[in-house]
Amino acid sequence: MTKSLTPAPDAASDRTPQRYEGRAKVTGEAHYPSDVRLPRTAHAYLHVSRIGRGTIRSFDLAQARAVPGVIDILTHETLGEDIRQTPAMYQGGYISDSVRPLGSAEVAYWGQPLAMVVAETFEAAREASNRINVTYHPHPAPSADMGSEGAVTQALEPMNLAVGNFEVAYAAAPVRIDADYSTPTQHQNPIELFATQCVWEGDRLTVHEPSQYVNNVKFGLAEQLGIEPERIRVVSPYVGGAFGSKGFLTQRTALVAIAAKRLGRPVKLVATREQGFTVSGYRAETRHRVQLAATRDGRLVALRQEGWELTSRADSVAMGAASMTARLYACPNVSVRVNTVSADRSTPGFMRGPGEVPYGFALETALDELATALDMDPIELRRINDTRTEPIGGLPYTSRSLMRCFDEAAARFRWGERTKPPGSMREGDWRIGWGCATAFYPAYAGNASARVRLSADGRVHVSSAGHELGQGMYTMMAQVAAEQLGVPFEQVTVSLGDSDLPPAVVAGGSSSTASVAPAIMAACDAIRRRLGIEGASPSEIMPAMKASGRGVVEELAEVRAHGVDSIAGLYRGKAVPSGGVHLPDRVQFALGAQLVEVRVHARTHEIRVPRAVGAFAAGRIINPRTAHGQLVGGMIWGISSALHEHTEIDPRNGSYINANLADYLLPVNADIVDVEALMVEEEDPLVNRAGVKGVGEIGVVGVAAAISNAVFHATGQRLRDLPIRLEHLM
Ligand code: MOS
Repeated sequence: MTKSLTPAPDAASDRTPQRYEGRAKVTGEAHYPSDVRLPRTAHAYLHVSRIGRGTIRSFDLAQARAVPGVIDILTHETLGEDIRQTPAMYQGGYISDSVRPLGSAEVAYWGQPLAMVVAETFEAAREASNRINVTYHPHPAPSADMGSEGAVTQALEPMNLAVGNFEVAYAAAPVRIDADYSTPTQHQNPIELFATQCVWEGDRLTVHEPSQYVNNVKFGLAEQLGIEPERIRVVSPYVGGAFGSKGFLTQRTALVAIAAKRLGRPVKLVATREQGFTVSGYRAETRHRVQLAATRDGRLVALRQEGWELTSRADSVAMGAASMTARLYACPNVSVRVNTVSADRSTPGFMRGPGEVPYGFALETALDELATALDMDPIELRRINDTRTEPIGGLPYTSRSLMRCFDEAAARFRWGERTKPPGSMREGDWRIGWGCATAFYPAYAGNASARVRLSADGRVHVSSAGHELGQGMYTMMAQVAAEQLGVPFEQVTVSLGDSDLPPAVVAGGSSSTASVAPAIMAACDAIRRRLGIEGASPSEIMPAMKASGRGVVEELAEVRAHGVDSIAGLYRGKAVPSGGVHLPDRVQFALGAQLVEVRVHARTHEIRVPRAVGAFAAGRIINPRTAHGQLVGGMIWGISSALHEHTEIDPRNGSYINANLADYLLPVNADIVDVEALMVEEEDPLVNRAGVKGVGEIGVVGVAAAISNAVFHATGQRLRDLPIRLEHLM
């Protein structure tokens, strides 16, 4: 098999700028938050619970304190009320969960921080942590799984949606599907660990922490510590992977801030890989029941999806993407419901395509089952049910290129050579299966601001508190400013990832470019106005600048996203991206087609994915190189999600038994062969001024269903639970 992981997209010609920070990253000049060296730094180490629920009776810290170099040990007893109880983000607050850091003797989940040691060295802090002795009051085994007896199911009524009469239409239809699906717990596992460094200068605090939302950390921490937000600066110029796990303030940051205050020294914490599994949120396990009914010619007449999502006892968190699966296809009778299942676990959070991945897996696998029942090609089934309006509110899609995506992907894949019966394609010992699924992700945007400075010599500086997670934010910001002002890309410098810069939205919901690009454009408009050449083309700007005799023109602009009521939320670190399914008059979605080939060995049942072709329509693509990286990376993650990843839980104590990169299965180079992402041209002036829908997450959506559907096509075995492993095919 030839290997062609990232064929350069045609559009990535020499005119497409290379990654702005690429050189800094490969030469080690890029300093990530934990690389920052501060004089006299003390090192912190978290001591986390080794039970799944219970109450602490006492700490024995004598052995720990005896370790040379130990300076301080924080516990709920020594900390007092220094950190305030604040609402979690799901209740309108900032922090990712509502367990107060070292707030009480209660243990809510395995891996909960119970103490933090501060020492002269990392090694001394770790050694002392190992010598902490915690005794607990007698405690029962936790209910850590969705299926465990003590887990409590609760319907989330506000997430229910319905149109028409599902029950009647379903009962009357000639062809029906009714099946259950499940997806497992997964963890983001960014290579950069969860690090925090805090340093006080007088009453001013600087936090160096990899973050997808520096203003969220600033305002949330201010609330926890009871100080003015203006006294806190959060700096995060590079993030070494996040995928949702660094989106919001977590318990650790306030602990490090307090320790630094008590010591009068900078304090640095780097949570271990294992601790990372409970330090931040994760993708919770889900279950689904999907019922579909259609006419004999394949028109959907009834669609029902009910989801169950695991959450913690403390917080009711649900990704609830039934609001999207309900809107994907033409169907007169739709009913979707969402439930949470509370268990003794840490609070889940966001992981790339948070709801779209599990809800999409269930719906898109069910659609394949329907195609089989109808003896119909699965792409044709989607074509028959394609729509220009979503069925719940009858709202129009601003643009919808789903079938163009399927057509382009199918041509590239040579889908026409597929023979329909399961098990009908074979090469030697390998059974071959071809499967497909729809990818979807809402086109969100949030409020954002940007400052642009143009100098008479043609140099430009653009700044905004956006974030570089590796997705290409620096490049995009420089490119948009260069294009708007008619200067070469190389003359633009960029600042981002700093709460002192003009505020911007969370780097989540695939919304960064859609939010910040319009703010940069607006700042460039303001520069034109200042030069008295409103509406002038980019090529007229430098001549006007020279003629004006000014040395520098600098302008700040704020842009409010569609559907967001005020710009004010932006300055409080709370602004939730809006758009997609939350607009009163339309829906905005990026859409795509995922086509995969699997080969299942007839004797060993080994599953390989030699080929995946995705085609995506996401409005304007500002930089085809970085966008292509996002899409291919997403698709690879989809393969991982289908065949590899599963955080395993020990029901006896609620622990994660594979909380490390050796045991947590991820695809290696040999698992990934041909992965191709095609970008389908699409113009959508309605989504936002930049015409951008975003590509950060859509690449991962639908891949798992395409793979399970391909496995069915290869073997005739329908697998509805992820991950699919060879033992499930025996
Ligand atoms: Mo992403 S899971 O919206 O950070």
